[in-house]
Amino acid sequence: MSEPIHEAVRPGVRGLPSLGRNLVDESLHRLQWNESPEDFPADLKEEVLQRMAALPWSRYPLGGRPWLLIDALAAQMGVAPEQVVVSEGSADLIKAVMAATLRPGDTVVMPAPTFLLYRQNARLHEAAIVEVALNAADGYALPVDTLAAAAQEAQARLVVMCAPNNPTGTVYAEAEIRRMAESIPGLLVVDEAYAEFCDQDLTGLLDLGNVILLRTFSKFYAMAGVRVGYALASPALAAELQKVVTVFPLSVFSEVAALVALEHRERFLAMRDRVVAERERIGAALATLPGVQVIPSGTNFVLIQLDRPKTDVLHHLHHRHSLLISDMAAYPELVNCVRISVGTPAQNDLVIQGFGEVLGGSRV
Ligand SMILES: Cc1ncc(COP(=O)(O)O)c(C=O)c1O
Repeated sequence: MSEPIHEAVRPGVRGLPSLGRNLVDESLHRLQWNESPEDFPADLKEEVLQRMAALPWSRYPLGGRPWLLIDALAAQMGVAPEQVVVSEGSADLIKAVMAATLRPGDTVVMPAPTFLLYRQNARLHEAAIVEVALNAADGYALPVDTLAAAAQEAQARLVVMCAPNNPTGTVYAEAEIRRMAESIPGLLVVDEAYAEFCDQDLTGLLDLGNVILLRTFSKFYAMAGVRVGYALASPALAAELQKVVTVFPLSVFSEVAALVALEHRERFLAMRDRVVAERERIGAALATLPGVQVIPSGTNFVLIQLDRPKTDVLHHLHHRHSLLISDMAAYPELVNCVRISVGTPAQNDLVIQGFGEVLGGSRV
């Protein structure tokens, strides 16, 4: 019986790794997923709950889509509501973009290393993947000409990238991204999950017509657990994307939480400033240690290149200081690198102390 069921599933799905139950010990300091170190403010949570209490829960959201949020996002980003597609996080939108565009055998071009979900979703759609290596020696700069040449050669349906890049943290100039969008045959997806941490606004690229921008409430708005993301595109492209996004894509709760966040944007800008200051503090402290290179970051995390295997550092931080940082084992290009999400000042002190103990020779 299991064989026909197995056969019924598309090869692209069967080829994906199964997601196990990821048991995270809550007593550990979790600095691997680029979450906000500060929670959504308690008084704003209260406001969300009060508004939720006054809404009917029995009704499907009026008009099918979260229109209040769509209008608020359009006003804030300076685009038309027809250009905004809202869904449960940008991970879902990456899937939607690929579902709307890729046929088996199509090519997706992407830099490497970059966010792993692009590769997984391209495989799900049985697309061919062409990766163009980023080069540590030139600061992981965007290889626009090589990416564009690869896209032209394969007549790639999609080029995907994130700006700033995850996991390197590298910020790319808008002019470079524009040049890429102008020199490829298909669409350019730019994942801006961390854009607020470097104050980058790429909405000017939407006029090109072949650009899709992805944004999330998970990082800057400290709402990773609520699950809200949005795509911006030309009205024509957004209308097609909308067709593959689930009908009623957000719960009423998610919409209200996102609206409250937008209405109090200044609170999150202040949180962002604290994260950026801490990111710079961690970077400056670690850069003084022998054999450590801190990669400049425009995000809420920092990539560290070591001149030795990273196991010692990971082990010491985990067992001595209960700190979980990201081992970059999934990225062959980053063999001796670790990625650290900016934590609270106390957690960041521990990171600096732990690195010093292993690499500065003061291990206790
Ligand atoms: C580049 C990038 N895109 C998308 C996501 C997923 O964001 P969301 O929580 O909106 O699904 C992440 C999460 O770490 C990310 O790093």
